[in-house]
Amino acid sequence: MSSEAPSSATPSSAAQLAELEGQFRDQATAVSDRAGWEELRLRWVGRKQGLLRSLMGRMKEVPPPERRDYGQGVNRLKKLVEGELEALDQKLRDREQGQERAAAAVDVTLPGRRPALGSLHPVTLIRREIEGIFRELGYTVAEGPEAEDDYHNFEALNFPPDHPARDTQDTFFLENGLLLRTHTSPVQIRTMLARKPPIRVICPGRVYRNDNDLRHSPMFHQVEGLAVAEGITVGDLKGTLQAFIQRLFSADTGVRLRPSFFPFTEPSAEVDITCPFCQGTGEDCKVCSNTGWMEILGSGMVDPRVLEGCGIDPDRYSGFAFGLGIDRVAMIRYGIPNIRMLFDNDLRLLRQVRG
Ligand code: PHE
Repeated sequence: MSSEAPSSATPSSAAQLAELEGQFRDQATAVSDRAGWEELRLRWVGRKQGLLRSLMGRMKEVPPPERRDYGQGVNRLKKLVEGELEALDQKLRDREQGQERAAAAVDVTLPGRRPALGSLHPVTLIRREIEGIFRELGYTVAEGPEAEDDYHNFEALNFPPDHPARDTQDTFFLENGLLLRTHTSPVQIRTMLARKPPIRVICPGRVYRNDNDLRHSPMFHQVEGLAVAEGITVGDLKGTLQAFIQRLFSADTGVRLRPSFFPFTEPSAEVDITCPFCQGTGEDCKVCSNTGWMEILGSGMVDPRVLEGCGIDPDRYSGFAFGLGIDRVAMIRYGIPNIRMLFDNDLRLLRQVRG
């Protein structure tokens, strides 16, 4: 703005006061913001260096006959300056408020932000599917503690102390003498101790083993199943597992039992299915290493010693048991190559498989 200093000579005539008024008006017109207004105010009516104050102070220098006119002229100029400053102040304030309102304005026409919907984890989806299939076969769901004692996790399952089969379980031991269950078989023991046959339960849950690579995670999920009644045979085991597998994968999935060993079942079998990726042909298939088969379950007829230890007469009752990894089924179903991807909670994966 033009900050031309007002004339410092004593303005003795009306003409000179009129010229000051003109200067003020010019400067006022040039004010464009709050800082400019403040500068103008200090220059003209500031308490210490304001021009009008110094004009008043010069009253003594004016010849006495002219003092009345001079005083009136200065007063008139002062009122005018104050009035203009106030009007300008109001104008600036209106503009400032307008700007504040504009900055705080909400655009009600903008589309809203949709809250993200969660979805079920792939492991949960498969667990529920497995539970649904067995519920239709007359099974109920049983659960038990993840921190188990040696008796339920090993001893009652016919793992004697110091038996080498314990090594295959890669157990995490807790400081309080308990351990993290290595399978959900202890839930079957708890069920048999609490109930009389006939028994048909499945036991889904988290299990823990000190093992960590592309196919193994220290925590994973199992569903184990148990059927105990009079007259149960290997035929029931095979028929049940075949019905289950063909519901879980597809009706034309081939199933084979391969002899194996578990301390708590006799005889024992690993269950293989025809590879769902190459339909069992094994041609060019990395998933089943060109064998056409994939191992999916452990199973067997409950060892009579296990029944007996749970107070069930092995001469009257027999039963079968099986166990499978839920994570492994999820990996096969959704084509997930690395088990740890299931627990990274990468939203891209979770979105892709959500039900
Ligand atoms: N408990 C076994 C495991 O975790 C699986 C299994 C269950 C095998 C029941 C046979 C019968 O390896």
